Amino acid sequence: MVRRLSGRRSGSGQRKNLSRVLLFVTLTMMTLLLTACGDAPQSTLIRKGAAAERIWDVYGLLWIGTAVVFLLVEGLLFYTVIRFRRAPKTAHGRPVPVHGNTKLEIVWTVIPALVLVFIAIPTVQIIADLSEAPTHQGDPLKVDVIGHQFFFEFDYPELGIKSTNTMYIPTGTVVDISLQSNDVIHSFWVPQLQGKTDLIPGRTNRMWLEASEEGTYHGQCAEFCGLGHALMRFQVEAQSQADFDAWVDQQQNPSTGGGEEGQGQQLASSLGCTGCHTVDGSAGVGPTWQGLYGHNVTFTDGSSATVDDAYITESILDPNAKVVEGFQPLMPSFEGRVTDADIQAIIAYIKSLSE
Ligand code: CUA
Repeated sequence: MVRRLSGRRSGSGQRKNLSRVLLFVTLTMMTLLLTACGDAPQSTLIRKGAAAERIWDVYGLLWIGTAVVFLLVEGLLFYTVIRFRRAPKTAHGRPVPVHGNTKLEIVWTVIPALVLVFIAIPTVQIIADLSEAPTHQGDPLKVDVIGHQFFFEFDYPELGIKSTNTMYIPTGTVVDISLQSNDVIHSFWVPQLQGKTDLIPGRTNRMWLEASEEGTYHGQCAEFCGLGHALMRFQVEAQSQADFDAWVDQQQNPSTGGGEEGQGQQLASSLGCTGCHTVDGSAGVGPTWQGLYGHNVTFTDGSSATVDDAYITESILDPNAKVVEGFQPLMPSFEGRVTDADIQAIIAYIKSLSE
């Protein structure tokens, strides 16, 4: 009888051990799988510039500090649970009540206060460092970032040019950024280059970034700003100085070729149309312009129409009269901001994207 009982116990013990091993293996595999998720454009652990490196320095320091505190606290917890698992009981079988211990309470108030000071010193230091562009590498490139529902506008005040949703910068140059908002609070975030900074109506925030390698960096509005928030993405295109200069030159001297269509393309960019309407068929806040002209569209009220000059004109002046199915009535009216000739040029451009 005794032998059978003990035999059964060791059997269930083995099963318990086996399920623990299985759980460990599964969790390890899941962790490995999750960390192997592609090139992770939104990972702040991939650092591609001086500002991102500065943040990493503080992050690493705090990570080590946190790990030490975690091990200390958990170690003490385990020790206490095991060491005092049989607390002295009163005559009624209840644990003996314990009153406050002043010394202990002072200690566990002072230690977290010291921990907070330890965290605050490098954090406050780096917040100050990251808002003021360093000048030791020569003159920084000035860019004004303006947040709109739902796109980013990039103005280069010293170069007299602007772009929408793609910020062009040369590598190895500090970019001195002023942030403003045209409507509500947005947040400018390029995970691999810098931390988040809010764009607040009525005030100007500052930050800087620098890209050490050429490439396209993913950016995202990081403050909920309305129905189009999730689609408020942008790119930072870091190029060699020569390529950047060529881009600037092309923007400053737009080729007169292209006629009305080229003029429409310029307007679409300067008015911010292409901030919400893509021209390559990809998803955006509004319908893509690629293949739109002449296309039959269904509206949210169930009616439908073919996209022609009249529909585009109406969409520019009274955008929310007929909203294409699957989209939200988010577009502001451009009445008074565009001339008839502007509208004709934009139509010519949209038309060209269907040919
Ligand atoms: Cu702009 Cu969220």
